[in-house]
Amino acid sequence: MSLVSILPHLKRAQQHHYALPLFDTADMYSIDGMFAVLEEKKAPAMIAVYAGALDRPNARALAAYIRTRAEAATVPVSLMLDHGGSFEHCIKAISYGFTDVMYDGSNLPFEENIANTRAVVRAAHAIGLAVEAELGHVGSGSEYQEFGAQRKGFTNPDDVERFVAETGVDILAVAIGTAHGLYAGEPHLDLDLLREIRSRVDIPLALHGGSGCSDQQFRDAIAVGIAKVNVATDLFVTTARRLTEAARANDNMHYFAFGKVAVDSFIERCGHYLDVFGATGNG
Ligand code: 13P
Repeated sequence: MSLVSILPHLKRAQQHHYALPLFDTADMYSIDGMFAVLEEKKAPAMIAVYAGALDRPNARALAAYIRTRAEAATVPVSLMLDHGGSFEHCIKAISYGFTDVMYDGSNLPFEENIANTRAVVRAAHAIGLAVEAELGHVGSGSEYQEFGAQRKGFTNPDDVERFVAETGVDILAVAIGTAHGLYAGEPHLDLDLLREIRSRVDIPLALHGGSGCSDQQFRDAIAVGIAKVNVATDLFVTTARRLTEAARANDNMHYFAFGKVAVDSFIERCGHYLDVFGATGNG
């Protein structure tokens, strides 16, 4: 049984200069692809449900499916809530059996982000789960030219020590130039800022908005101190394109053949990230 809270594995990644991925999911084919490649690559990971999906009717069953697969896995897998929007959201995820939660108060005033994060940490730590929070704000790739490219929302390194000390948070998501979703333009990562943040605190740092970054950007960010990288958009966009191509090539395609295309696509894309992040072989 290898359903875990990810923190010790992230600390080990941080110490040995590799990173573990968080892959978002919302359906069984993507989950099946993820577990197949984690076993193949012998890598630990976080399989995550985005907060928006937590309110869907299938959320509890989805969590149970991931938990059951993780319990049977030979590699450590965390079931993580991604971007919980409130204390209640995080508690709901915990009640569904999630093993780690992210609380995202990054759009709130600093003091409010501290107070809310601290409350989630207190509840989660009482039952041995790790908490991630975000300081600064990772915006949307579609607004990158007005946002990330202008350094808007970047983490203020002077806030980092106080935020970590007062919240007790385990993992810190930083805003250093990435964005969620497809980028309008090219992402630029501020590695000097990352280095500065890294020097202020010792907890694992998370990079959100992995889709669209180059392999070299990942390697550089991991070398400077990123231990967790979140990836979602690329997995779904690439798989949708492959499904479309398969349907165009065969107008009588069987339903389960679509499923195989999807599973294989997740195996290939997630495997690529596991190799680039250096997670392969560390399970
Ligand atoms: P992308 O969808 O841009 O890869 O971002 C994923 C993410 O950061 C989820 O928290």
